[in-house]
Amino acid sequence: MESGLKHFLLTNKNDNVSILEVGFGTGLNFLLSADYCTAENIQLDYTGIEAYPLTTEMIGQTGYNEYVTPALWDTFIHNYPEVLQKQVNLNTTSQLQIAHCKLLDFQSDKQYDVIYFDAFAVVYQPEMWDEAAIAHTLKFLKPGGVFVTYAITGNLKRTIKSLGLRVEKAPGAPGKREMLRASRTWI
Ligand SMILES: C[S@@+](CC[C@H](N)C(=O)[O-])C[C@H]1O[C@@H](n2cnc3c(N)ncnc32)[C@H](O)[C@@H]1O
Repeated sequence: MESGLKHFLLTNKNDNVSILEVGFGTGLNFLLSADYCTAENIQLDYTGIEAYPLTTEMIGQTGYNEYVTPALWDTFIHNYPEVLQKQVNLNTTSQLQIAHCKLLDFQSDKQYDVIYFDAFAVVYQPEMWDEAAIAHTLKFLKPGGVFVTYAITGNLKRTIKSLGLRVEKAPGAPGKREMLRASRTWI
């Protein structure tokens, strides 16, 4: 969140932001982003892509209610089944929807300010990191938007650069490894 969402907001001074996450999983990245945006009164439009959504019961067992404000947690867990079907306003600032599909099947007319690419590591799911998957993902990045991921491999850097983006290292969350940040700098 620091190197993606906060970096984007610092650079752009926006009062609204759209985020696409590849690999929604437990929703931790959404919860932290929505908690921040709610506190800062920033409109958040968040789409997660998830091929194998967890059940509401599994989400309830994550313990993430301890990391975010109770009101956000309550509305997230209450609306989780619905966000798998359509876009839902969770509070006055945060909208969420989860596209229940594989990355390469995801289609949208929308482009996003920030993309969190949170696939399993390349050793487990190499197909998520090949040029087709990365190029497909970057189609949904707005000009001026940023793409962030925890993987910093030579292959990934080369792929992203070949698609015309600028690549840099960025700090990870406290105690975490560095991240790769890529920006689409042309308009
Ligand atoms: C590293 S985990 C994501 C963790 C998640 N961001 C969280 O905070 O819990 C990777 C996720 O990608 C999902 N996934 C695997 N293959 C996928 C595909 N082809 N398309 C979309 N999601 C996929 C997995 O089900 C898993 O939830």
